[in-house]
Amino acid sequence: MSEEKKFQHVKIEKVEEGNYAVVSIIRPDKLNALQNQTLKEIAEALETVEVDKSVRCVIIRGTREFTKKPAFSAGADLSARGDTRLDPKNLRHRSHAMYIRHNYYNLIEAFPKPLIAAVDGYALGGGLELVLVCDIVIASRRSEFGFPEIRRGIFPANGGTQRMIRQIGKMRVNRMMYFGEHFTAEQMNDWGFISFLVDDDKFEEFVHEKAFQIGNSATNALFVIKKCIQYGTQVPLNVGLQFEHWGYALNTTSQDVREGITAFLEKRSPKFQGK
Ligand code: COA
Repeated sequence: MSEEKKFQHVKIEKVEEGNYAVVSIIRPDKLNALQNQTLKEIAEALETVEVDKSVRCVIIRGTREFTKKPAFSAGADLSARGDTRLDPKNLRHRSHAMYIRHNYYNLIEAFPKPLIAAVDGYALGGGLELVLVCDIVIASRRSEFGFPEIRRGIFPANGGTQRMIRQIGKMRVNRMMYFGEHFTAEQMNDWGFISFLVDDDKFEEFVHEKAFQIGNSATNALFVIKKCIQYGTQVPLNVGLQFEHWGYALNTTSQDVREGITAFLEKRSPKFQGK
């Protein structure tokens, strides 16, 4: 399969020594605005790297080769034509249009390996909703975040109203969504939304360093952490704790558990194989 042939809106690169892959959105002329095709390709790119055992961590980002302004993604492509199969006046078709988009975001969120959102530039609307389905957010200081939808008479319907509220609290989300302002990376960091806030000139190196670290970490344990946090926190505590029981059992079978503990006892750094 030729990746160039298959993907038009995204590009996959593998960084072998880091055991990670980078999925870049390559629509710089539109600040990486998202069409359904873009979301579909991101989900398909993830499927490609999921079955690749040499990939143990994935970065989602906007293209480094920006032509206008740096952007993770400026949100839904406002210039895109709607799905011609759907009747814009039919209520069920309107709902179906959202069902299709939610499915892409859900697929990306359910991806089993750690997903890093590397944000350099705008992360707005649907672009910010894409950040919300990742596990780690690394942002450069020059980045801007926001839900400008209200200024266009629409609202963040790609999971935004539901996922952001679970991150930063109702009054902050209301402020973001009612007024459509942009927020600095520093502000979002203060609100606990960003895992790592990085100086612009250190960004690329830092993203590589963190992906490398995860790519050489204990993959099975990371899988269990991801699923426990993602799904365990959506259920009552006693059910969530069951995720830990099963996750513990599952992780016990991994070779990396033995390696991690043996390395500690032998006073050396562990060499995790992702098995
Ligand atoms: N959909 C389609 N095209 C978009 C886009 C989007 N969401 N966001 C930006 N673009 C395009 C612009 O139309 C422009 O194209 P052009 O140069 O051919 O005219 C190009 O990207 C650069 O954008 P521009 O507005 O000139 O840059 P800017 O730095 O002045 O402003 C933004 C950047 C992101 C603040 C501004 O483009 C914007 O508000 N975009 C829409 C964001 C939005 O509403 N997102 C939510 C959608 S639900």
